[in-house]
Amino acid sequence: MNKVDILLGLQWGDEGKGKVVDVLTPNYDVIARFQGGPNAGHSLEFNNIKHVLHTIPSGVFHPGCINVIGNGVVIDPIILAEEIHSLEKLGVNLKKTLKISKKAHLILPSHRELDAASEAAKGKGKIGSTLKGIGPTYMDKTGRNGLRVGDILLDNFKEKYNFLKNKHKEILRQYNYQSDIEKHEDEWFKGIDLIREYELIDSEYEINSCLEQGKKILAEGAQGSLLDIDFGSYPFVTSSNTICAGACTGLGISPHKVGEVFGIFKAYCTRVGSGPFPTELHDETGEKIRKIGAEFGATTGRPRRCGWLDLVALKYAVMINGVTQLIMTKSDVLSPFETIKVAVAYKVNGKETDRLPFDISIPVEPIYKEFKGWKTDISGFKSFDDLPDELLAYIRFIEKETGVPIKIISVGPNRDETIVSD
Ligand code: GTP
Repeated sequence: MNKVDILLGLQWGDEGKGKVVDVLTPNYDVIARFQGGPNAGHSLEFNNIKHVLHTIPSGVFHPGCINVIGNGVVIDPIILAEEIHSLEKLGVNLKKTLKISKKAHLILPSHRELDAASEAAKGKGKIGSTLKGIGPTYMDKTGRNGLRVGDILLDNFKEKYNFLKNKHKEILRQYNYQSDIEKHEDEWFKGIDLIREYELIDSEYEINSCLEQGKKILAEGAQGSLLDIDFGSYPFVTSSNTICAGACTGLGISPHKVGEVFGIFKAYCTRVGSGPFPTELHDETGEKIRKIGAEFGATTGRPRRCGWLDLVALKYAVMINGVTQLIMTKSDVLSPFETIKVAVAYKVNGKETDRLPFDISIPVEPIYKEFKGWKTDISGFKSFDDLPDELLAYIRFIEKETGVPIKIISVGPNRDETIVSD
């Protein structure tokens, strides 16, 4: 029987998952999102089209590929409707290819307000939420209060909606937060009507029966392993399990049905919003990476914090996910640099360690190994054999340290700018 391959980010998100899923989609029959919400911004570029997906899996541009939004995802009907409409404008008809789990939870307009109220109340301790209501929706899921996509088929859906909204209003009053939930309700219910037009499924049955039929499935992660609710830099994390195990709970597959685990990382590191980032560069080198790498959020436009590759964190992510193949993106961004650094260990309280401390917001001093830059424009390269020796040395070092082969190198944002090893 086939197994489900999983593709996920190994850093703080924005590793380029959207692009790589789009590149890999021709090998798959089904692409399935398993966690997160519309805080994801998966950017795809081809034929002079640049498109950002938030909730819809990145297989949509390949006709015939089935795209599943799994039970682990939280859906904002307003954002999903916008995405569907903008894809329709590009000529992508999702009616036959998009399937939505009945067990996925719904983000209500009041969840967004709760997100804003909670973040405002945190003051200086803000966690850098995207304010899309994702955290409060997952809280309602675990609190057993949530509304699920399947509920929209029930006669008493409106009643259930009002019950939860009123509960939220009560909390907002306690925050003393001025909200305007009703302003977005019309649009929200229009989004619900649109969702009703799509095939609502039990994704666990769908995915497992696809496997039995010999279909090939790729589970697409969002955000990154260092933002995982359990293993990320808590509390500066996202609200879901972004790691490999999240694909099991977010789609309904057993661990023994997991096949390849593709781990994506950038040739350097970035992070959006607050939270610890040991290799962050506050100098002109950081600025240069941001400028060349166009490191600004696809969803929020926020400048991303930039720094050198952190092997301590990368090895941790490889371990937690059981990564079987590595994919390195944005290698082209480092092309102009004379010297490239990689953190190989940390100094914590005067002691050297190669493990992530419990709390990386304590002073952590990265210990760097330096590499000679390749100083070559690699964006047109098509084969590993063409790559400059300096870049190959960088690749081999990462492979040796992580114990995992780098199978794909991305050398530009476009579909074509991808080198796959034989
Ligand atoms: P999240 O789920 O939100 O974390 O998104 P993501 O992992 O899909 O990444 P996102 O699309 O937000 O960011 C990656 C950005 O880098 C996009 O603008 C891509 O077009 C671009 N990109 C991807 N691969 C490469 C690459 O190899 N080189 C360059 N220069 N840009 C790339």
